[in-house]
Amino acid sequence: MSTTDPKLKIARSKNLAPGLTLSSLLRNESGIDTVVALFKAHLDRHAASNSPINLDDFFTYTTFDIVGESIFSKQFGFLREARDIGGSIRNSFYQNAYVAVVGFYPWFHGLIANPWMTASGLLPFGHIVDTAMGAVKDREANPDARFDVLSHWFRALAEHPDRMSLFDVHSAATNAVAAGSDTVATGLQSFVYHMIRHPHAWAKAREEIDAAGLPDAEVIAYGDAQNLTYLQACIKEALRVFSPAPMTLPRVAPAGGLSIGDRVIPEGTIVSVCPWVIHASTEFWGPDAKEFKPERWLSGDAARLEKYYMPFGLGYASCPGQNLARIQLSKILATLVRDYDFEQVDRNADWKYHTFFVVAPYGWPVRVTKRSRA
Ligand code: HEM
Repeated sequence: MSTTDPKLKIARSKNLAPGLTLSSLLRNESGIDTVVALFKAHLDRHAASNSPINLDDFFTYTTFDIVGESIFSKQFGFLREARDIGGSIRNSFYQNAYVAVVGFYPWFHGLIANPWMTASGLLPFGHIVDTAMGAVKDREANPDARFDVLSHWFRALAEHPDRMSLFDVHSAATNAVAAGSDTVATGLQSFVYHMIRHPHAWAKAREEIDAAGLPDAEVIAYGDAQNLTYLQACIKEALRVFSPAPMTLPRVAPAGGLSIGDRVIPEGTIVSVCPWVIHASTEFWGPDAKEFKPERWLSGDAARLEKYYMPFGLGYASCPGQNLARIQLSKILATLVRDYDFEQVDRNADWKYHTFFVVAPYGWPVRVTKRSRA
């Protein structure tokens, strides 16, 4: 994450990319289904008792456990226990704040981080490193592990020891745990929050799913969810109006500086593009830039808009986990729209959110109703 030399960054990313391709991840789709089924059991329980549920918590349990399944062939157990085991989720709050600073000023991390600090658990990253390293250790002792993301990374290490090290594998595992759950949980929240405020969109997405004649699976397959054009437009719009990562990683202006239009950015300047600014620009999106309007993705203008859409960042340092994110968003949200209705306990209250490296909403409990399907 701290590599800012583009050539080095691309070389490092290449070693890790095979584990995160769509086809590699979909080999373990059944593992993701197991997690989503557990999440649905919690929704069913809340529906039966008519008790409010905090989707921010349950989405985060779900996305953490899916990272566990996909990367390490083992869930962390958040959904099974329905609680923040070991305070990992609480810790992400501090880690998020920390990364928002050291992401741009890595020298600060260099100043205070050392093996003693990591072991002491005083830095929020220490907790994530422990969680990830524990998962790697369990995975190595697990005779039933599937050909998961870690298998790909270990294979790359065995085949190209000259190109990567065990430390690279450990860093990638830690980064995936750190970056792979809150982000997706926020995307899931944004979809439900905006869609219940636009009931016609929810109804239209459901009609599309009902009309598609999908197999009666408990969790909708990624391949099927992909073909739901309107649902996909709603997911895109949810990530546009409320991008989970409000800042991209820093880039450094190259030797000789950088000219963009009439601006000159001097060599060595740290620069970043903020998806929230780009996604709210009336110049790009029109006067309704800030409105949740899935239809914009189905208009003749969609190809032009695509250029300005950057929830996963863009270019050589864009999000390496975007396939895993898209799989989760598509499967979970298609299944929720098909099987449930949600209503905010206090319809007039806006959600609240913390904004650091990830924007994390909270404080909008909902009631859930299970839909009877003939
Ligand atoms: C909706 C979900 C997600 C969003 C919106 C998101 C967004 C982003 C953004 C904006 C960046 C910075 C890109 C740039 O600077 O251009 C990033 C980096 C990163 N993301 Fe994601 N992400 C998501 C899900 C995931 C998942 C599921 C994983 C897990 C595998 C992941 C792993 C990472 C990592 C490891 C980096 C740092 C990459 C590096 O070292 O350059 N992300 N993400």
